[in-house]
Amino acid sequence: MTSAKSSPLARLRHAPRRLLDQIDRNHQRIEREYVERGYVRKYADRIGSIRDKRLVEVNKIRYDKRLPHLLVSRPGALTDDHWSARRINTLAAQFPGWKRYLEIGIFEGLTFASVRIRHRVGVDPRPLFDVRYPPRGCSVRVQTSDDYFATIRATERFDVAFIDGLHTAEQTYRDVVNVFAHLDHGPVLIDDTVPLDEISAIPDQEESYLARARAGLEGRQWHGDVWRVVLLLDRHHPELDWRTMSDRGNPQTLVWRRHRGSHVVSATPAQFKSVMEESYSDVFSNGTPGAFRTTSEDDALRTCAAALRAS
Ligand SMILES: C[S@@+](CC[C@H](N)C(=O)[O-])C[C@H]1O[C@@H](n2cnc3c(N)ncnc32)[C@H](O)[C@@H]1O
Repeated sequence: MTSAKSSPLARLRHAPRRLLDQIDRNHQRIEREYVERGYVRKYADRIGSIRDKRLVEVNKIRYDKRLPHLLVSRPGALTDDHWSARRINTLAAQFPGWKRYLEIGIFEGLTFASVRIRHRVGVDPRPLFDVRYPPRGCSVRVQTSDDYFATIRATERFDVAFIDGLHTAEQTYRDVVNVFAHLDHGPVLIDDTVPLDEISAIPDQEESYLARARAGLEGRQWHGDVWRVVLLLDRHHPELDWRTMSDRGNPQTLVWRRHRGSHVVSATPAQFKSVMEESYSDVFSNGTPGAFRTTSEDDALRTCAAALRAS
């Protein structure tokens, strides 16, 4: 006997739903296959706006499969904790001629994907996103900043840069000098220039975390000894000006040339050594020293933009 459910009439009635279920299953299967292949459909996903529409869903699958996430192809809206991108974008909006951005240390690509500058180069020996499909106009160099600067042409130029790589004074200072050799006019934003406390200023990240745990303190704040770079600027770089932003996010120092095209020459090893001999507790005994030129984000960005326009 034929049941009502499997009667031709019932089958016909359920056909649309079965078809939709089948389409849905196919869609999920294809999606999984794409993810396994790095998630780029031969044609459609080359178009970033199409890829972006499915990004949240796809990144969930990639997370389950322990695959690195994909970045959005075009910068979207910023939240309050995107202070680095906000600061760079605020400046970039005033200089529409800026076309090239360099970021040293890109990590998960949060800032890199959010900066509104057409061509972006990111440098990191261990980026934590799928570098095969970078955002539109972006390229990623999977190498250290030293290797990157050793291999690019002397004529390579950027309009603005963000230094957020290895947070030691030695590396960050070298990055600053190297970056200025490839910037004619624009500024450099340096991350984490003001430590939260003595423990966050320990240059070795793991050691800093252990010291914090041993002291019974919570959190994983770490800034390294990048603060020494500002002392080096203060003592040996009269050709540069800077402001340290203290509100609306992590303290960062924005640095620019006083005069367009002036050379930024590295301090000597003896000058560097003398700054390395300073201790955090002495330098910060009365709070952040005047050498940091601390001010609000708005004032720092306004001062920098005015100086760039005038020079
Ligand atoms: C704090 S994270 C960068 C965060 C990122 N700029 C952002 O805003 O989301 C620091 C990154 O620097 C990278 N890094 C470490 N040593 C480096 C080096 N020598 N050159 C370039 N990047 C480096 C690390 O792999 C890490 O991803």
